[in-house]
Amino acid sequence: MPQLTRGILIAIEGIDGSGKSTLAKNLSLSLEQQGFNTTLTKEPGDSQLGKEIRTLVQTQNIPISGHAQYLLFAADRAQHLSERIIPALKENKIILCDRLADSSLAYQGYGNGLDLEMIKSVNKWSMQGIPIDLTVFVHVPVEIALERCGKRGALSPYEKKEFLHKVADGFEELYKNRTDVIIVDGTESPENLNKQVCSAIEQWIKNKNLLS
Ligand code: TMP
Repeated sequence: MPQLTRGILIAIEGIDGSGKSTLAKNLSLSLEQQGFNTTLTKEPGDSQLGKEIRTLVQTQNIPISGHAQYLLFAADRAQHLSERIIPALKENKIILCDRLADSSLAYQGYGNGLDLEMIKSVNKWSMQGIPIDLTVFVHVPVEIALERCGKRGALSPYEKKEFLHKVADGFEELYKNRTDVIIVDGTESPENLNKQVCSAIEQWIKNKNLLS
C-alpha cells in the first residue's frame, strides 16, 4: 500500500462538457485501487454552504452581478478549502478536485472580463495560500463539448457558444508553457483518458519523491 509523505492537491479543469467530472471519478477509483487514499471533491457545491451557492449561481433566478457571482464562487472555494481540502491534506491523501481556482480565472476572468489579477489574489486568499500541486486540463473543442451538454438536457447559463469559446481560450492561455499541468485530449475514450492520467499522476508522485 503506497504511503505518501504529504497530501497532494490535484485540480481537474476543462470547459462544460469536457468530460472532466467522469475523469475525476474514474481517477479516484483507479488511484484507490492502486492503494492510494483519495478524496474526490468538486466546485461549486461540495459543502452545505457550497450547495446553496451552487443553486444560486446555477439557476440564476435572482439578479446576481458579475462581481457578486465571482465572490460566490470564492466563498464556495473558501468553504471547500476549510471543510474538505485542508483536512484531507492533513491526512496525506490525494485530493482530486473537479474544478478549482483556475475555473474562476477562465469563466469570470477570460469569460466575463473581470480583472485577472484581482481574481488571482482573491483565489489565493480563499485558498489560504495553499498551492495546487498538479492540474489536469481536459481539452475538448467547444462544438463537441456543447453537443455533449445538449444531450445531457437543458443548457446551463454558462453553456453558450461564444462565452465558452472565451473560456476555452482563457484555459489555453493559462496553461501554455506550464510544467505543472497535464493536458489531455477529451475526445479520447474515458478509459484511455483515465489510464493516461492515472499513470502520469503516479509518475509525478515518483519524480517528486513523495512515497515514504
Ligand atoms: P460543473 O458543471 O463543472 O459542476 O460547474 C458548474 C458551472 O460553474 C460551470 O459552468 C462552470 C461554472 N464555474 C464558474 O463559472 N466559476 C468557477 O469558479 C467555478 C468553480 C465554476
